[in-house]
Amino acid sequence: MSKRSLSGVQPSGELHLGNYFGAIRQHVAAQENAFYFIADFHALTSLGKADELRHNTRHVAATYLALGLDPERAVFFRQSDVPQVCEISWILSNVAAMGLLERAHSYKDKIAKGLQPKVGLFTYPILMAADILAYDSDLVPVGKDQVQHVEITRDLAVAFNAVYASEVFKLPTFTLGTPEVVPGIDGEKMSKSYGNTLPIFTRGKALKSLVMSIKTDSKGLDDPKDPSTCTVFALHKLFATPEASAEMAERYRAGGYGYGHAKQALLAQIEQHFGPAYERYDALMARPDELEDRLRVGAVKARDQAQQVLTRARRACGLE
Ligand code: ADP
Ligand code: TRP
Repeated sequence: MSKRSLSGVQPSGELHLGNYFGAIRQHVAAQENAFYFIADFHALTSLGKADELRHNTRHVAATYLALGLDPERAVFFRQSDVPQVCEISWILSNVAAMGLLERAHSYKDKIAKGLQPKVGLFTYPILMAADILAYDSDLVPVGKDQVQHVEITRDLAVAFNAVYASEVFKLPTFTLGTPEVVPGIDGEKMSKSYGNTLPIFTRGKALKSLVMSIKTDSKGLDDPKDPSTCTVFALHKLFATPEASAEMAERYRAGGYGYGHAKQALLAQIEQHFGPAYERYDALMARPDELEDRLRVGAVKARDQAQQVLTRARRACGLE
């Protein structure tokens, strides 16, 4: 049996190029023996709006399916359709040291950004550990900011297995989608909380105006430019072949090639890459019942797997 991949994406806003290169692209590339889910329980830590959560959940489902996730190959489901995960999360919380969670960067960053320090936000990594451990996952493809959460997952699995002298939980490892952080239109990390994203399904004039607004330095058309410090170049490189990217770098250095030209080239790359998925996405968003049906099929398979792990855990710690 091939190694099992598992990952989740929160339905907390419109998915963007950072999510695509950091997470979604690798999920769609590795579908055999894979579990992918919409982390709606996790979204409760930040969202607080019911209609938005329902809409975003459909948006994530339609995005994955439009970009090529095949529910016949990968198990694709909604986190909250698997209540076993909450039970595993509670069991794990009893071997989780406060200090382990207090060191979580993601929690500290969110508090620094002004989120209220709620218990759900604090214990978020335990729920994530339960997500990962519930399916006997081997590989967890994520972006850089989630790596520490996978390390916490390993720590919790080791702690439980040690306390109960068992091998209930399998130790997962993370895999990184893109070694770099995808920059947003202001040059900082692309993130919905910074309002600097290029959303995957924004197109036409709206997409053009976002691309044209990418921040650059003020060098003129004729000036030689440094590709290594340019956001437009960095984004283009994510889509282009190595040859096309090297050619653009050459043009930057030679001068006579303006940022406007580079932005046009980037726009063309984005449209070429996502264009074929636009119609599929629109059709799926127009049929919420079909999306629900697909998620329900995944949930049945996910619950079955999670129940097996939960039963092992309950027996090991004396609940059965
Ligand atoms: P956001 O920062 O917009 O809130 P999330 O934290 O929900 O995005 O991230 C979802 C997934 O996408 C994670 O695996 C994360 O690592 C990845 N990701 C998000 N933004 C980026 C980025 N700018 N570069 C690389 N990966 C990213
Ligand atoms: N915390 C992840 C994020 O914000 C989403 C997530 C929840 C996840 N559970 C997971 C990712 C399990 C990988 C594995 O991106």
